[in-house]
Amino acid sequence: MVITRVRAENFRNLDNVDITLNDKVNVLYGKNAQGKTNFIEAMWMCSGLRSFRNTKDKDFIGIDKDFMKLSLDFKDSVREQNISIEMKRSSPKDKLVTLNGVKQKSLSAVFGNLNCVVFTPEDLELSKGSPDNRRNFIDIAIAQIKNAYSKVVARYETVLANRNAMLKSITYGTVEKIMLEIYDAELSKLGSYISMLRYNYVKKLFKTASELYREISGNKEELSFFYQSTVFDNLEGKTDYKKSMANDYFFALRKNEENDLHCGFTQLGVHRDDLLVSINGLSTREFASQGQHRSVALVLKLAQAYILCQENKESPVIFLDDVLSELDYERQEFVLNKIKNMQLFITCCDSFPKMNEGQQLTIENGRISKA
Ligand SMILES: Nc1ncnc2c1ncn2[C@@H]1O[C@H](COP(=O)(O)OP(=O)(O)OP(=O)(O)O)[C@@H](O)[C@H]1O
Ligand SMILES: [Mg+2]
Repeated sequence: MVITRVRAENFRNLDNVDITLNDKVNVLYGKNAQGKTNFIEAMWMCSGLRSFRNTKDKDFIGIDKDFMKLSLDFKDSVREQNISIEMKRSSPKDKLVTLNGVKQKSLSAVFGNLNCVVFTPEDLELSKGSPDNRRNFIDIAIAQIKNAYSKVVARYETVLANRNAMLKSITYGTVEKIMLEIYDAELSKLGSYISMLRYNYVKKLFKTASELYREISGNKEELSFFYQSTVFDNLEGKTDYKKSMANDYFFALRKNEENDLHCGFTQLGVHRDDLLVSINGLSTREFASQGQHRSVALVLKLAQAYILCQENKESPVIFLDDVLSELDYERQEFVLNKIKNMQLFITCCDSFPKMNEGQQLTIENGRISKA
């Protein structure tokens, strides 16, 4: 998959960008605060995902502007397509999103057309920070392969919020306990499906990422993962998510009901699961060095990109925002070698190992030009 052209009007500090892109490598140079990450974010948004920066909608619009507009042309092996997003300051929630000129219900409706993998310095949090980073990473990676998955996750979150509200109502005595069973039954089905898909994805991820990690560490370190379910002791070989898995899930919820009522929220379920990451048997969260966290993040993202290539038969677009400069020379080479067959965007502030192919762009005060 290749992004061929990006136009941006009033997207953050990108007042007026119209740039054609190289099929292989695009290196974007610029000093701090010139708009490098903004440019990456603009393309990322067109993939239909919320920003990797956790921003409020209205902040995408240039500060003194009333609207913003993005338009992105891309092609895969079959055809050329366009995604556009428009937003007004007066109603930032009502985005106008089109795919090939056809209006879409929402931004998430275009998800699955343009697949991207982004590496940012914040990805260090993957093996270091709280479990929701890791759950989110897995969920996005699965959704890129299986489009319907994000709807299941969204539904799970809605039912979970309703169940938590109901727990409080029961404690206040306004609702009968028996009412919880309705939510438990639905959560069990959704949660079983999510558990099964996550477990299988993590297995694939482990296979690819552990090989990459062996390489990046010069065969000195062994990376392993384990999907830790709060409901199932063992998910290996489990497929019957509509019946036996859902039954086990349901009983686990029922069994924990008194505790849930006491705490006021649902303590078991896929929203509490985690991906345990360890190097040479030691948990990365507690023991890994800064460099190890960086390497884990890199191989996780590389593995995500590889799995996407295998499953979708299309390579994703790769964004490396500010990460290469933090790696030593060997690791830079390692990363660049591993993503040779994918379109690549690299942002950096200063000099960068000379690339044999691709184009160089410079950005200053939100204006991009070809170097
Ligand atoms: N809504 C907005 N309107 C106008 N400018 C904005 C808006 N949001 C962010 N900016 C500006 O964009 C600039 C930051 O852009 P960006 O984060 O892309 O920088 P960068 O080039 O990636 O810098 P660094 O090298 O430090 O990561 C800041 O100057 C910020 O004030
Ligand atoms: Mg930046």
